[in-house]
Amino acid sequence: MKILVSDPVSAAGIEILQKEFTVDIKLKLPPEELIRIIPEYDALVVRSETKVTKAVIEAANKLKAIGRAGVGVDNIDVEAATQKGIIVLNAPEGNTIAATEHTMAMMLALARNIPQAHQTMKEGKWERGKFMGVEMRGKTLGILGLGRIGTGVAKRAMAMEMEVIAYDPFINADHARNLGIELMEVDEILTKADFITLHLPLTPETKNLLNKEAFAKVKSGVRIINCARGGVINEADLAEAVEQGKVAGIAVDVFEKEPINPENPLLKLEKAVLTPHLGASTAEAQVGVAVDVAHGIIAALRGEPVMTA
Ligand code: NAD
Ligand code: MLT
Repeated sequence: MKILVSDPVSAAGIEILQKEFTVDIKLKLPPEELIRIIPEYDALVVRSETKVTKAVIEAANKLKAIGRAGVGVDNIDVEAATQKGIIVLNAPEGNTIAATEHTMAMMLALARNIPQAHQTMKEGKWERGKFMGVEMRGKTLGILGLGRIGTGVAKRAMAMEMEVIAYDPFINADHARNLGIELMEVDEILTKADFITLHLPLTPETKNLLNKEAFAKVKSGVRIINCARGGVINEADLAEAVEQGKVAGIAVDVFEKEPINPENPLLKLEKAVLTPHLGASTAEAQVGVAVDVAHGIIAALRGEPVMTA
């Protein structure tokens, strides 16, 4: 059987697959080229760059499994794959710590203006007065999406003596309370939180969850962190809220259009800390997700039970 790997995936995972199958690594394939070659393959392994559209799935006549080396499957038409009997599996745990720690790094960088101050020093300036920050201790952190990463962020925030409130309709209130977190509706979080961090998947329900109407409700001076998915926040509305001073600053790792879109209004904001989708970019996480997805693909191709995404 043949496997196509179309995004950069750690060698640790590729080596596991190569022990049993022929593996072709073809990166940055134009969509029409992917559609042309996909009929040759029994399985496809991607990260977030490859868009596994309905057209790709329709052309994939031998495909039995699509493995996502990471969490989000919003780049895969899961419905079309399922209808065609193709298993979609992900690696939900391998990058949890990486994304959790990146969120904490972004929150602290945002609170203390670290990237902006660093840039001025590189320019030979010493501007102590310009970069007054805020403390985390005693502040309220609103977490939207209390899954693996949201919970990891909550635990670390509590260690920094923050109050944590969260919105997640699929989490039991007792479970949250045992963690020391109070569950609330989104609107209540918007009015109470000093920092808001997003850890939800991008779905039709979560798309544009934070938009103009939401920004009208937030506490003035709130700081917002998004290391989940672009599209959960409306970027144009967010940029406007920052420009108007309603939102004091943002830290964003994920964007509506990736890779870089020069027209993205967030790029122009001085009060924005931005990283190019680095949440899962640690050596440990990349090995973790690659190994997990390789085992998932092997199980799927052998017809053994697999946990679908
Ligand atoms: P998870 O599945 O463990 O948690 C997601 C949580 O969102 C779940 O608790 C679920 O109940 C909740 N949820 C789902 N739909 C919801 C809705 N409509 N409203 C409110 N809550 C809802 O996933 P995770 O591993 O914690 O990942 C969270 C997000 O972070 C995902 O979007 C994932 O793709 C993204 N992620 C990004 C990076 C990065 O590189 N920046 C790395 C890893 C994960
Ligand atoms: C994920 O959903 O796992 C992240 O987007 C990480 C990634 O694959 O880069």
